[in-house]
Amino acid sequence: MTLRAQIRGVGHYLPDRVVENAEFENWVDTSDEWIRSRSGIERRHFAAEGQTTSDLATRAARAALDDAGLLPGDVDALIVATSTADLTFPSAATMVQGALGMESGYAFDVQAVCAGFVFALANANAMIVSGQAKTVLVIGAETFSRLMDWSDRGTSVLFGDGAGAVVLQAGEGDGTNADRGILATDLNSDGRYKDLLYVDGGVSTNSTGHLRMEGKEVFRHAVEKLAATAHTALGKIGLTGEDVDWIVPHQANLRIIKSTAQKMGVPMDRVVVTVQDHGNTSAASIPLALSVGCQRGQIKTHDLVVIEAIGGGLAWGSVVLRW
Ligand code: UT7
Repeated sequence: MTLRAQIRGVGHYLPDRVVENAEFENWVDTSDEWIRSRSGIERRHFAAEGQTTSDLATRAARAALDDAGLLPGDVDALIVATSTADLTFPSAATMVQGALGMESGYAFDVQAVCAGFVFALANANAMIVSGQAKTVLVIGAETFSRLMDWSDRGTSVLFGDGAGAVVLQAGEGDGTNADRGILATDLNSDGRYKDLLYVDGGVSTNSTGHLRMEGKEVFRHAVEKLAATAHTALGKIGLTGEDVDWIVPHQANLRIIKSTAQKMGVPMDRVVVTVQDHGNTSAASIPLALSVGCQRGQIKTHDLVVIEAIGGGLAWGSVVLRW
C-alpha cells in the first residue's frame, strides 16, 4: 500500500466586479487590442472595497468542502498560498480557519507569489505522505488589485483578484502511475532574479509599495523554466508530455501558456485556459483554473494533470497528479 494525497473536492470564488480591458483606456495609454494580443486577457475581477483575501479564500474553501462532502471539522491542516494577506499577521490561513469555525487543526500561509499554490500543494502532499495530516485544505487567494500602480500600463492591466481551493485527503494506492493523487513534484527558486518581479515596499521597509515587473525578462524565464519543470516532474515517474491529459498552467499570459504546451508536446485542446476571464490572479490562478476546468467538464476522474507556475523570486515548479 502506498499513501497518496488525493483530490476530494475543488471550488472557487470570484468577486462580483468585472473590469473589461476597455475600462483601462480611461486610465492609461492602452487599448483592448494591445492587452488581448500581448497577454490574452479580456477581463478580470476586482474585489470590492473592504473585501479581503481571507474573505475570498473562505468562500472558495466552503465551495471545495461542499464538493468533497466534508465539514470544516474534518480538516487537519489549512494552507493559504498568498502574497496579499489581509494583515501582516496573523496569517490569512488562520483568519480563514476562524471564519470556517474550525476549532482544531493548524493553519499557515505559503508565500511563493504566483508559484504559491504549486508550493503549497507540494508541501501538503509531503504532510500527507509523511502521516502528519490526513485532510488538508489548500487555497490560493489574492487581491493583487491592491498592489497596482494605476499609472503603470505595463502591469496594471494584467492582474486580477480571486480564490480557488482543493481538499486533499490521504488515500491508498498501489505505488504505480495509475494511482489517483499526487505522483510527482518539482520546486525551484533563484533569488538572484529578485529585481525582475517584486513589490517595492513592505513592513521592514516601512512602506506599502506597488508591484514592479520587467515583463519581457519574466516572459523569457517563464518560457524556458515552465516546460523544464514540467518535464522534470514527469521524468521523475517515467512519463512525458504524451501521457498528459490536461495542463493546468499559471494563467499569466496566453503566449507563455501556448509556448509551454508546445514545448511539452501537448496540444492546446488539452490545456485549461482561463486567463481571458480572470487575468493573472497570482497564487489563485491554478486552483481557479482547476475548479473552472472541472465545471466545464474538461478534467475528469483518472485524468493525468500537470500544474506549473512561475512568479516573483523567481520561484517556479510543477506538480503531476491523477485526478
Ligand atoms: O505571474 C508572474 C509571471 N508574470 C508573467 O509571466 C508576465 C510575463 N510577461 C508578459 O506577460 C509580457 O512581457 C507582457 C504582457 C507584460 C508585455 O508583453 P511584451 O510583448 O513583452 O511587451 P513589452 O513589455 O516588450 O512592451 C512592448 C511595447 C512597449 O513599447 P515600446 O517600448 O516598444 O514603444 C511598451 O511600452 O508595448 C508597450 N506597452 C503597452 N502598450 C499599450 C506596455 N504595456 C502596454 C499597455 N498598452 N498596457
